[in-house]
Amino acid sequence: MSETPASVSSAKPAWQRTHTCGQLRGTDADSSVILNGWVASRRDLGGIYFLDLRDRYGITQIVVEEELAGTVQVGPEFVLAVHGKVRSRGENVNTDRPTGEIEVVATEIEILSSSPTPPIEVIEDLDTAVETRLQWRFLDLRRPPLQRNLMHRAKFTNAMRRAFDARDFVEVETPLLTKATPEGARDYLVPSRVHPGSFYALPQSPQLFKQILMVSGYDRYYQVARCFRDEDLRADRQPDFTQLDMEMSFVNEEDVYGTWEEILVETFKDSMGLDIQTPFPRMTYNEAMERFGSDKPDVRFGLELQDAADWAATCSFGVFTNCIEGGGRVKGIVVPDGASMSRKEITALEDVAKEYGALGLAWWKAGADGGAGPLGRFCKAGEDAGEAPAVSLMATVGASDGDLCLFVAADEATVHKSLGALRVHLGRKLGLIEDSVTDFRFTWVTEFPMFERDEENDRWVSQHHPFTAPADESFSGDLGKMPSRSYDLVLNGWELGSGSVRIHRQEVQEKIFELLAITPEEQQSKFGFLLKALEYGAPPHAGFAIGLDRLVALTLGLDNIRDVIAFPKTTKAADLFCGAPAAVDPAQLVDVHMELAASAKTPVAEDPSADSPVETPA
Ligand code: AMO
Ligand code: AMP
Repeated sequence: MSETPASVSSAKPAWQRTHTCGQLRGTDADSSVILNGWVASRRDLGGIYFLDLRDRYGITQIVVEEELAGTVQVGPEFVLAVHGKVRSRGENVNTDRPTGEIEVVATEIEILSSSPTPPIEVIEDLDTAVETRLQWRFLDLRRPPLQRNLMHRAKFTNAMRRAFDARDFVEVETPLLTKATPEGARDYLVPSRVHPGSFYALPQSPQLFKQILMVSGYDRYYQVARCFRDEDLRADRQPDFTQLDMEMSFVNEEDVYGTWEEILVETFKDSMGLDIQTPFPRMTYNEAMERFGSDKPDVRFGLELQDAADWAATCSFGVFTNCIEGGGRVKGIVVPDGASMSRKEITALEDVAKEYGALGLAWWKAGADGGAGPLGRFCKAGEDAGEAPAVSLMATVGASDGDLCLFVAADEATVHKSLGALRVHLGRKLGLIEDSVTDFRFTWVTEFPMFERDEENDRWVSQHHPFTAPADESFSGDLGKMPSRSYDLVLNGWELGSGSVRIHRQEVQEKIFELLAITPEEQQSKFGFLLKALEYGAPPHAGFAIGLDRLVALTLGLDNIRDVIAFPKTTKAADLFCGAPAAVDPAQLVDVHMELAASAKTPVAEDPSADSPVETPA
């Protein structure tokens, strides 16, 4: 047995800090201190030098005077123990930092760890490619903004946990190695070694388990839950992300809305000192689509969609009349005083509409004399004595002289999709959206349709998930219009969370499966455990899950959730820092009874690590 080395002792190490780098104030002048931290910067000044020593709590200026300066060589990101004396900076206060009243005159510097010149700078504002930042994530995470983000996230999440705890919710962890859950994305699969040919799926959400917990009588459940989805990634989506997931028994929609409003008020107050206004406004899905062309309306600005059907049906522009005759819609956006926009600017707007499926963007600079633009010639007064088309178009869409009107004629879904996207684009371009970390405009969007058409596979799929209760159990009429008891919470144009009142009667659940063309065999193999549980005393229940990464990002005014995730992935689902995903040892494949397909053995031409340009949420 080896002896314990003499240097290892349980006594406090001589280099250990007495204060953090964010702690010392004017009142500490003349005390002897030890600080531990990283060298943030060094300024040489003829024989002496100044260091900024940084840790998670702040930065303190260190003065290294002549005698010591000659003997200790330190570089950026070295880890030091600085022994010294606090000196007041007198009148010369640095008002930019809380420790600005003092500096520490070093009497001894111990180098605890050295560093080569770091490939990215550990500074507040870093203008470096995202890929490089992600590759050097441990240095990126040392930067004050990311440290602030993650500390805020922890504080915010804890405040939310406290709010749930105070309302008798029980936190229960649910499995990560589980069976597929139908949230609409592809599953991440994990092969089983013990059961050849069988796979676990990582949960897309704890949906089925939380419903089972209600059947088991837990009454109020919540969880800070990791979820996994293999889907197209963008600024507000990561392959593994976190939900604040919850479920309640013996409740209806109102209880869920009320509980979340209270939880959010308390969380914002507790973690940020902010007052959130409740109740949150509500809007049905249909109203959101009609007014904003989106089920996640950004209600911070106007430019609402105007229905031009009355005018379009009788005008002389063939595209419009044909569209209306064919059962389509013609809607537009009126940009106040937009007539000053150039042809080039308008073409760029047309490109946005086309990107979202519109065949064109018919524009018109409104004017009672007929106005200008492609619609102008259809707006001139004709021979007959009726109202000039220009005047009636202005009345139809609420436009005034000098406004710019932008129309799309298409099927309803395309009209809403393209104008909804154009509206948000215009909101940004015209500076109508004020990004602020104090203006939080929550909206409940309610009564989503039960089903939507999956044209590719010629079948109906659940708009939310198949456990959502229908608003009407008669199941009559157009399936595509059948309203559900589901709801979303939207914040500043982002979908923050979703939920629904669930089906708690087995026969209703089976009916929904039937409408979704899920055969009885499939029902048993995929959801048999849920159906069985519903047979044995299931209480009425409802729930909701918020995307925690999204909420935390929005509270910080960030437009990408990776800035609130310690180790995020690129839009190609790669972790550039640890190098995941990666090839595995062939023996590991044998263990799990797997073999690579030929297509997986040839290297892919495309660089899997590359990140595509940062996009805003669609
Ligand atoms: P849903 O699938 O709508 O509902 O997810 C709930 C919320 O989770 C967030 N979210 C994501 N965040 C980051 N990256 C992703 N890839 C991602 N996918 C979803 C969103 C979304 O609103 N079980 C149901 C909830 C319920 O019915 O109770 C569910 O998961 O903010
Ligand atoms: P055209 O007659 O095809 O030259 O189109 C005249 C104008 O109508 C152009 O500004 C087109 O962008 C626009 N336009 C064409 N199709 C549509 C459509 N489906 N919806 C809205 N505008 C359209």
